[in-house]
This record gives sequence, structure tokens and C-alpha cells, in this order.
Amino acid sequence: MARVLVTRYIPENGYQTLCDHFGANAVDLYNEDAPIPRETLLARVKDVEGVVALLTERIDDAFLDAAGDQLRIVANMAVGYDNVDVEACTKRGVLVTNTPGVLTDTTADLAWTLILGAARRVGESERFLRDGKWQYWSPTLALGVDVYQQTLGIYGMGRIGQAVARRAKGFDMRVIYHNRNRLDAETEAACGATYVDMPTLLAESDVLSLHCPLTPETRHAFGTAEFDAMKNSAVFVNTTRGPVVDEAALASALHKGKIFAAGLDVFEEEPRVHPDLLTCERAFLQPHVGSATRATRGKMAQIAADNLVAVLSGKPPLTCVNEAVLKP
Ligand code: GLV
Repeated sequence: MARVLVTRYIPENGYQTLCDHFGANAVDLYNEDAPIPRETLLARVKDVEGVVALLTERIDDAFLDAAGDQLRIVANMAVGYDNVDVEACTKRGVLVTNTPGVLTDTTADLAWTLILGAARRVGESERFLRDGKWQYWSPTLALGVDVYQQTLGIYGMGRIGQAVARRAKGFDMRVIYHNRNRLDAETEAACGATYVDMPTLLAESDVLSLHCPLTPETRHAFGTAEFDAMKNSAVFVNTTRGPVVDEAALASALHKGKIFAAGLDVFEEEPRVHPDLLTCERAFLQPHVGSATRATRGKMAQIAADNLVAVLSGKPPLTCVNEAVLKP
């Protein structure tokens, strides 16, 4: 009988670790590249002790009821865990783990891809070329905005926000940030970043990049009022979670020219993208691929598998988001 459920095909090394430890017969792999249907998930989680889950699975009371009391760990293969009702898991003594650290730089690189791509109208220009519209070199073709020596604003200054800030040194930028808590002086100096309040962040950023987690406090933190308060020349980038932004308000701000461009890797109701963003040339769009490199996804699968093996072997997990469960 299966002891663990893996809710999707994941990089081989993670699956192999589970098979090596538990035996292949004890690992139930939903061997597909598409999300496991809810009904199938609730049926297959029954009686298992550990689950490797992805951000597409809702881990809530119904899931925990379907699993049963023997469930000990949900190892989310993502750094974000807004898909998990952590409080419900904690109440039932189920450990929740995530995959922080290993995807920091890869995600920061993607944020920079979006910054540069949106500022320099890369998506729009490529569509123009592929559509056969390019007839001649023009001094006014695809004019974007500069990134170098401008002000980079960061909302949410955790690991990924800091990695994005460090990269800004190469672009000779001034970096300002807003965060729940101000960083210590040493970390601020390492990032070359200055703490500002929210109105200053909005008013002074030439590029504004989001790196906060999705929480009740950050849901729709960016809407009409915030876009109104930004520069008309600003580039807005989101690689965290879609619902931090009111997508309809963003699309409207782009169409009305209230901001210059947006680079988006995440959306409010993935995989649906607001139709007004799809028709907006100034929106540079990616299908939630922030951590999508071979090496990084392999490391994420490995941490998820290692967490699961550790916990079911009676050892502490490597990365835990509800440590209260570990306390006697
Ligand atoms: C991806 O979005 C993650 O949270 O790891």
C-alpha cells in the first residue's frame, strides 16, 4: 500500500529518492503533466502518510479529512504556500514544508527578464517581426524606457527581493524598498537598498517589482489607487502571486497609459489571463515560470522528497513553515 502520494510528474531525482527510501510500490505517483483532478486527489490521498504537493493543489480541511489522521507531512514543491491552509494542517499536527533558497536566484533572473523585456518592449517587438511587419530600420521603432541608472522599487524584501536588488548594481540603479519590517543595516548595505514608505515607493520607482508572499494583507495590494500614484513611465513587474495585483485595474492602467509597461509571470486565476492583458501590447507575459530551470526544479523536487523522507523517518524536516507542530 502507498505510504506517499506525489501529485504530479516531478523531476526524476525527487521521485527516485522517494522510491529508494520507501520502495517503488509505496510511492503513488500521479504520472501526468497536468494537475491532478480534485476528486482523484481526494481519493488517492486516503491513508497516505506524506504528500508531495504542487501549488496547483488546494490543501484544506476537505483534503485533510480525505487523507485521514495518519497524514504527517505535506511537502509543497514551491517556496510559496498560499495553496495550503497552514492553520488547518497545524491543528491536525500535519507538517507543511516548502522549498526556499534553491529558487531565489533563478526567480530573480526571471524578474530581471521581465524588467528588461517590458521596458524594452521585447514581446511586442518579437511579435512585430514574426508577423512580417518589419520593413526597414526606423529611429522611432519600439522605443522603450531605460532601466540603467533609474530607480528600482522593490515591494517585499525577502530572499528573492534582495537577489533582485543585488542584480541592480550592475545596472547602476538606485534601489528603494518597502517591506513589512525594515531590514537590518548590514543587509540593506549588501543590497544597496534604502527603506521607504509606500507612497514614496509608488511615486519614485521607475521599475517596481513585487516579491512579497500572498497573504490576506497583500491580496490586491496593487490596484487603481496604486497605479494612479505611479509614474506614467513606470515598469511594473510581478513574479510572486497574481492576486497581489488587481488584474483588471492593471490592465486598465496599461491601456490608459497610466504606467508604461508590465512584466507578469503570475495571474489572479491561473491559467486564465485577464482578456484586457492579452490584448495589451505593453504587457510582457510569461506562464508562471519563475523557477523554471532544469537545475532549480531538480533542487526543488529534491528538497520536497528529502523533507518527506526525513519526517517519515522521525527526523526534523529541512524546511518547515509550521514549526509549532514539531514542539512537544
Ligand atoms: C513558485 O511560484 C513557487 O512558489 O515556488
